[in-house]
Amino acid sequence: MEKKCQSLTGMKDRLPPETALWQEMESQARKIFHNYGFAEIRVPLLEDVSLFARGIGEGTQVVQKEMYDFVDKGGDHIALRPEGTAGVVRAFVENSLGKQEGIAKLYYMGPMFRYERPQKGRLREFHQIGVELMGVDSPHADAEVVIMLDRLVRSLAIVDHEIEINNLGTLTERQGYLKTLLSFFSQHKNELCADCQNRLEKNPLRIFDCKIPTCRSLCRKAPAITGHLGGETEAEFSVFKENLKKANVSFTVNPYMVRGLDYYEKTSFEFTHASLGAQNAFAGGGRYNHLIEELGGEATPAVGFAVGCERLIALMQARASADKKRHGVYLIGLNEQAFSQCRYLLQDLRDANVPAEMDFAVKSLKSSLRRADKLHCRSVIIIGEEELKKGSAVVKDLADGQQQEVALESLVTCFGKRSKP
Ligand code: HAM
Repeated sequence: MEKKCQSLTGMKDRLPPETALWQEMESQARKIFHNYGFAEIRVPLLEDVSLFARGIGEGTQVVQKEMYDFVDKGGDHIALRPEGTAGVVRAFVENSLGKQEGIAKLYYMGPMFRYERPQKGRLREFHQIGVELMGVDSPHADAEVVIMLDRLVRSLAIVDHEIEINNLGTLTERQGYLKTLLSFFSQHKNELCADCQNRLEKNPLRIFDCKIPTCRSLCRKAPAITGHLGGETEAEFSVFKENLKKANVSFTVNPYMVRGLDYYEKTSFEFTHASLGAQNAFAGGGRYNHLIEELGGEATPAVGFAVGCERLIALMQARASADKKRHGVYLIGLNEQAFSQCRYLLQDLRDANVPAEMDFAVKSLKSSLRRADKLHCRSVIIIGEEELKKGSAVVKDLADGQQQEVALESLVTCFGKRSKP
């Protein structure tokens, strides 16, 4: 036998029934985003490598270690997108989207690629649902996207998620903070790993991304951004927090949360869930007021976030089983004649928009009921010799166990009514 083909490390097939959760997540996101005035943008998976280096930051883990980059047949150095923001900003600038209405509210969904060490919740091909609100520098815009994300999470019946927020200061305010950080970490240089000693020279903020225990414990003692923010930034941060409170969004302020990408300033936030383990952040984002200018556009402030879909799906899978509603009908024909009758009925039900399933050959009642349960069907229609004689079927509700006899000609109408959610 030939060797079996296998998917690549860190890349996964998405199979039924999990794909139903993906559809639910995506359709819920589209519905909510549209209500908030966002429209979909679709951009290429491949971009010039310099877009990500310039956009995300040369000193970040993503650019230094995790890019899927290569030289194509024409000699261009290109990369698979590791995140969505840089590509959307490129499209915004290239298509002059800011000129049309001043404000652009965009969302996207799709695969991202990072060459990371795979582990629970961390993949090399993963998916994001992202949002970018471009053209306003306002804490109301920051609050709008955080509230929208919170509502999306709640609409998927996910409970107990936590939201951490921070304010990273304006670029000028951050310069002051970086000096304080530099002096703190320089005093402890010997305790830092080789990578962090390097980061100290380039961008001390990135030391907060290090996973090595000694660096992490040093980070916990490092000075926080609090105290480096100017009056205006503090006031904006208060408006942001006030807006969240009014919308019943609970949060905690974490002054050490710096996020792993270089483009953020002022508001930043992360959504976490304790049940996810080590990779507990299932969404993150923040304000990026200089990225559009840095990528060749006119100075345009912006804010956005991205949800890690695989992590959100894991949370959906953990929802209470009571939440898994039974739906549709399973048909069981106990002999050849009843089986044919059921196949005709199956088509009639499907034509009437009733989700209906059955086997392709006569099977025992026991194994058929087992399959109906596995498919999470709400009801079964059973036709045997007796029922054929009477021109009826036994209809059993698998949710409450109730059973009744229904005339064959009334079945489609009866289920047409029932199948309404
Ligand atoms: P990010 O924090 O790098 O932000 O990624 C957002 C989310 O993607 C994370 O919270 C996580 O759930 C998920 N994620 C990241 N890497 C992986 C991975 N290797 N495997 C599975 N899930 C992963 C961004 O990407 C920004 N572009 C978000 C943004 C949009 N900021 C402003 N606008």
